Amino acid sequence: MIEVMGRYFANGAGENPFLLIGNPANKRTLGLQAARSKLGLAPAIELSYEQLLKRTIYIQDVLRTFAGFEEIIILIDAPGEDKAVERELIAWGAPDQSGDDVFWSAGSLPDSISIAAEEARGLPLEHGRIYYPAQWYRGYCRFLAAVHREVKALKMAVRWVNSPGSIASMFDKRSCWQLLSRHGLLMPALPAPSGTIGSYDSLQAAIAASGMNRLFIKLACGSGAAGVIAYQINPRTGEELAVTTIGIEERAGSYSFYNTGLLRRYSERSDIRRMIDWVCSEGAHIERWIEKDSIFSKSFDVRQLVVKGQACHTVLRLSRTSIINLHLRNERRTDADQLLSAEVMQAVKHTAEAALRAFPGSFAAGVDVLVHRGSGRTYAIDINPFGDLLYGAEYEGMNTHEWQMRQLLRKD
Ligand SMILES: Nc1ncnc2c1ncn2[C@@H]1O[C@H](COP(=O)(O)OP(=O)(O)O)[C@@H](O)[C@H]1O
Ligand SMILES: [Mg+2]
Repeated sequence: MIEVMGRYFANGAGENPFLLIGNPANKRTLGLQAARSKLGLAPAIELSYEQLLKRTIYIQDVLRTFAGFEEIIILIDAPGEDKAVERELIAWGAPDQSGDDVFWSAGSLPDSISIAAEEARGLPLEHGRIYYPAQWYRGYCRFLAAVHREVKALKMAVRWVNSPGSIASMFDKRSCWQLLSRHGLLMPALPAPSGTIGSYDSLQAAIAASGMNRLFIKLACGSGAAGVIAYQINPRTGEELAVTTIGIEERAGSYSFYNTGLLRRYSERSDIRRMIDWVCSEGAHIERWIEKDSIFSKSFDVRQLVVKGQACHTVLRLSRTSIINLHLRNERRTDADQLLSAEVMQAVKHTAEAALRAFPGSFAAGVDVLVHRGSGRTYAIDINPFGDLLYGAEYEGMNTHEWQMRQLLRKD
């Protein structure tokens, strides 16, 4: 029996401690604990993001209580859906806050898109509003770097489920694109070299030079379709259309941007310019719009989980729109292998596994794979370090958490 933070943990004989950095009581934490209990494993020791960020607990103190164990496994789970954590991460990324920027490759953080740490801690966090995404990401990178450094300094035998560095790089769509290209994956073409489009006007210049009229414009470190724009322009008439989750609100001459949780269509240039300028100022990843294949007259993409290098749970996402995230109330199917041909399924799985090989520090991630209509070519367009929340999906009779726990314990 070991006491950690006033609670007692009894691991089974020969069982190593399992630490979970997450938001306690969140559905993800509950799902993981349920899986451990079902497999007869001791509960994961929960370390809350909030406490770690506020420095009311230190990971080193917790690890020290486990000195003598053969190995300690640490799983860093998603930081989302918690206001206190969001405020702290923005504060950690503040220009007046020092931090280790070893995982942050996005360059400087201009004043126009940043706030001081104190201000960040007082943010009201209105529902849906997207606050300082670049600063948030820098804060998250700093947190990951701090945890990594503190754990390393102890020189204990620690196994990361996903290493802090792999999580940081998966979060940045620009560095993912570069890394996956370097690993030989086919990626959607870019209208201009990564990072060179800084505004609506430079986007238009890139469109004119590349001839690409249909593009996906994304907040480089967004997720859950926040800050994603499916954009097209008619080169003959100059007519534009932007389909996006972004909502714009004007208050006293300044604009804020929301994730509306629904898709909106914009055709007014002034709106489109405003939102593209904003996404570009926070850091954009802009790539060719891949025409997705369809079934039942709906476009689809595939969320493919890969655990220990092997593709496992699959969720097919279907939609009449171009942005297919599940919380946008799109249809989900867990019987992809009955709906897609064996050939397509195999290509999807190979692509997802190849994508994970670019992240040797990652044990489990969910890859969004697009299948190009006509050619059947597959593209890994989004790598989600926390992409395992796939309700109803089973592989070898296990849900995603059970399968990961089982694979982690396998000794080969
Ligand atoms: N290049 C693209 N071509 C076509 N559809 C895309 C492209 N990029 C993204 N999408 C669609 O938009 C959705 C959201 O984009 P994604 O890169 O996965 O961002 P997020 O991290 O917000 O999920 C994808 O699931 C996919 O359906
Ligand atoms: Mg995605």
